[in-house]
Amino acid sequence: MEQSGEKLTYAEAIDRAGDAIHRFPLVEVRGVPLMEHIANNWDAIWAFRPHPSDLLISTYPKAGTTWTQEIVDLLLNNGDADVSKRAPIAVRIPFLEIFSPPPIPSGLDLLKDMEPPRVIKTHLPFQLVPEGFWENKCKVIYVARNAKDNLVSYYHFDRMNLTQPEPGPWEGYIHKFMKGDLGWGSWYEHVKGYWREREKRNILYLFYEDMKENPRREILRIMEYLGLALSDDVIEHIVQLTSFKVMKDNPMANYSFIPMPVFDQSISPFMRKGEVGDWANHFTPEQAKVFDEDYARQMKDADIPFRASI
Ligand code: A3P
Repeated sequence: MEQSGEKLTYAEAIDRAGDAIHRFPLVEVRGVPLMEHIANNWDAIWAFRPHPSDLLISTYPKAGTTWTQEIVDLLLNNGDADVSKRAPIAVRIPFLEIFSPPPIPSGLDLLKDMEPPRVIKTHLPFQLVPEGFWENKCKVIYVARNAKDNLVSYYHFDRMNLTQPEPGPWEGYIHKFMKGDLGWGSWYEHVKGYWREREKRNILYLFYEDMKENPRREILRIMEYLGLALSDDVIEHIVQLTSFKVMKDNPMANYSFIPMPVFDQSISPFMRKGEVGDWANHFTPEQAKVFDEDYARQMKDADIPFRASI
């Protein structure tokens, strides 16, 4: 990555940003709470024009974004592990809306130096995705994860990501999640927004739980959506390379390239557990009851087949 003609690694850029890095407040953009730097740069993000060949990977935070990014990158590179190690995942597949203190590059900085077709990551809810993606009929892969596991993963992430608001105690965090009082807003509205539009917009809507249950099947679905035809051997290789264990040890995928004071992986590793049903180790029966009742209310206008166990 280049700043003023000088190439910096993420670690160097983070080091230079120094004291400017801290836990940023959330600022609403059209009713959706976003990290302050994102809100401050919203006009530039909204004005982004993708190329029709660009592909968008969209998720609510902690739904399996990085996993899907790695799968897509490998599919597009015929399962070549060396090619997928050419750069950190955040450089290979830029995060559309991310803005951080300079000289840490923004998503838009990285994208402007790349030729289409590009793969782009976003956590923006459907209504905040720049309209050019729909006007240009870009392919979009959406990954959704069941609410309770997504919440648990976000809680641990907010503990270790020192640029996100303090998560506070677990009990209170559950209520923040239910109210949509977290970065990128309401999980409920996020998963419903893309679900409603999936047919009209040709969005490939995937579930984290399906990927865990049968990664090969879901990788094949992605392959077909991308219009690719890879051999069985290559697909099997991609299944291996994108297993939790292999990705956890891959420095180009496990976010060790984003060091302190942004990510403190001694608090909780980015590749934390990668399981379905870990929520049961966090929620008390009473908390699960309150959550499930609220869930039924918030999700009554949608019939999305989420599974909290497999
Ligand atoms: P946990 O915190 O439950 O472990 P995102 O990439 O959207 O931030 O999502 C991160 C979550 O996906 C974390 O969940 C992480 O461990 C999990 N994850 C990352 N790679 C994975 C993989 N290859 N297989 C299963 N889960 C994975």
